[in-house]
Amino acid sequence: MMPARWTSALLIRMFAVAAIADPVATTPVDPNLQRAQTAMAELGQTLRTALQEKIANDGVVAAVTFCADEAPRIAAEVSEKHGVTVGRTSVRHRSAANTPSDWQRATLDAFATRVANGEDPAVVASTESNAVLRVAKGIKVEAPCLMCHGPKDSIAPDVAQAITAKYPADLATGFRLGDLRGLIWAEVSLGATGVDRP
Ligand code: HEC
Repeated sequence: MMPARWTSALLIRMFAVAAIADPVATTPVDPNLQRAQTAMAELGQTLRTALQEKIANDGVVAAVTFCADEAPRIAAEVSEKHGVTVGRTSVRHRSAANTPSDWQRATLDAFATRVANGEDPAVVASTESNAVLRVAKGIKVEAPCLMCHGPKDSIAPDVAQAITAKYPADLATGFRLGDLRGLIWAEVSLGATGVDRP
């Protein structure tokens, strides 16, 4: 369990960072944070486009295998390109490779609280420790996600079968529209190769 102090510090940072999106904000922009956010946006966008295309061209069943192969590959590619590590995680994860680390679990808890209070999860939170900048953004469940992450009885039988075949220990069903699905996260090393902080 994480200390409660950590949670409130994280929430404070969420608001501080959200101000960057405001064009009139005078908050100095951290280049490492910017790099992380660029990579996170690219991962989200690339996955979304690839998934949409695959479903349109080959159907939902084919898209399950596609996601399984392509999601980790795209994450690795985007990480390499931007010199950060990006990925996705969730308390109820499909792939064991997306099991949350300690800081990710703490962040997931903080986001869950936000969402329970009716706030939008699509907000960026960042924290720094041991020369690593850690950034995360909530992912909300949208209508097309339900085909593969919705309540079990609403998933088409052939899709459910493809998911179970690939992920016997799947936890990522039973979500509803607007739920917090998980996080896109990034870690930026602030060591010698990192961009100097202002
Ligand atoms: C065609 C089925 C399919 C659809 C549609 C789909 N997903 Fe997934 N999703 C998967 C598969 C398969 C994985 C595991 C792939 C991986 O990351 O290794 C996954 C993994 C994830 C993960 C990573 C955490 C985990 O559970 O392993 C998140 C977050 C996620 N999906 C969110 C979404 C969102 C948000 C949508 C809608 C915009 C969506 N998915 C639509 C099949 C799907």
